[in-house]
Amino acid sequence: MLPFQPGILQALPQHASFLTFTLKPAADQTSAISALKALSVLVDGERVVLALGSSLLQLLGQQIAGVHDFAGISGSLVPLPATPAALWCWCRESERGELAHQIRRLIQAAAGAFQLQQAVDAFKYDSGRDLSGYEDGTENPEADAALAAALVQGQGAGLDGASYVAVQNWLHDFDRLEALSGAQQDDLIGRHKSDNAEFDEAPASAHVKRTAQESFSPEAFVLRRSMPWSAQDKAGFHFVAFATSFYAFEAQLRRMCGAEDGIVDGLFSFTKPLSGAYFWCPPMCEGRPDLSRIGL
Ligand code: HEM
Repeated sequence: MLPFQPGILQALPQHASFLTFTLKPAADQTSAISALKALSVLVDGERVVLALGSSLLQLLGQQIAGVHDFAGISGSLVPLPATPAALWCWCRESERGELAHQIRRLIQAAAGAFQLQQAVDAFKYDSGRDLSGYEDGTENPEADAALAAALVQGQGAGLDGASYVAVQNWLHDFDRLEALSGAQQDDLIGRHKSDNAEFDEAPASAHVKRTAQESFSPEAFVLRRSMPWSAQDKAGFHFVAFATSFYAFEAQLRRMCGAEDGIVDGLFSFTKPLSGAYFWCPPMCEGRPDLSRIGL
C-alpha cells in the first residue's frame, strides 16, 4: 500500500478551505522547521492535505526533483497569473463548524514562520458540478489508474506516495456565460449541460477537446479535485490537479491558452485564472506527513 495522503483520492468533501501561506519576512530555517512540525501534528492527510512550495524547500536547503514555482506559459494568448506560495493546506470537512476550527488551528500552528496568503472558501455543488452547471471530473482516472496518475511510485521511501499538485483559482463572469444560448455554452465545454454527454461536432476550442488527456504525447493524465468557491459577490472554480509531475498540467494549459496552435479554450470567454501555483504533497508515515526527504 502506497503511503499517500488519503484525501487526494477520496471523494470531494461538502465543505473545504484552500489555504496558502507565504514565508514571513523574518522566517529562517529554525522557525520554519518548528512551524512545520507544529503543523504536521494537525495534518492527517484526510481532513487536511498538506503541500510544500519551492520557496520553503529552498529555505530548508532541500530539493525534490521537478518541484519549482509555476511561471505561466510562454506564448500564452491570455493572462496566466503566477502566485507562488510556501505552503498549501486543503481543509476538507462535512460540516462548516469543524472547518472554521480547523482553519484557525492551522493558521495558529503555522504562525511562527508563515503568514496566510489566501483562504478560498469552497464547497461541493450538487453531485460535483462547476457553478456554470457542468459536471466536473467525468474523465478523471479511477481506481488503479487514479493511483498511477496522481502518486509517485518506484522512487523509494520518503518519495513514494507523494504527489505534485497544480492549483489555479478561476473567477467566473456569470453575466457573460448567461448571455450565451445553451448550445453556445455547450460548445465552450464540449459536453451537454443537460446530460453531460460529449459531442463530436464541438469546436476545436471546446474545453474537453483542448484537454483530452490521451491526445498528448506522452499522454497527460491528472487527477482533478477542483471545487466551486464563493466570497461575497464573487464566485468561480478552484482548479486542483494531482499528478506525478507538473508535465500533464502544463501540457493541457499550453493548449488551453493558445500557445500551441493559437486557439484559446472556450472557457476563457466566461472565466479567468486569478492565481497559479505548484506544490509537492509529501507522502505519509504513521498517520502524519513523511518529511524525511527534506531532512525532518
Ligand atoms: C474554470 C476552470 C475550469 C472548469 C470550469 C473546467 C470544467 C471542466 C469540465 C466541465 C470538464 C468535463 C468533464 C470532465 O471530464 O471532468 C473538464 C474536463 C477536463 N478539464 Fe477542465 N475545467 C477548468 C479548468 C481546467 C484546467 C486549468 C485544466 C488543466 C490545465 C483542466 C483540465 C481538464 C481535463 C484534463 C479534463 C478531462 C479531459 C478529457 O480527458 O476528456 N481544466 N473540465
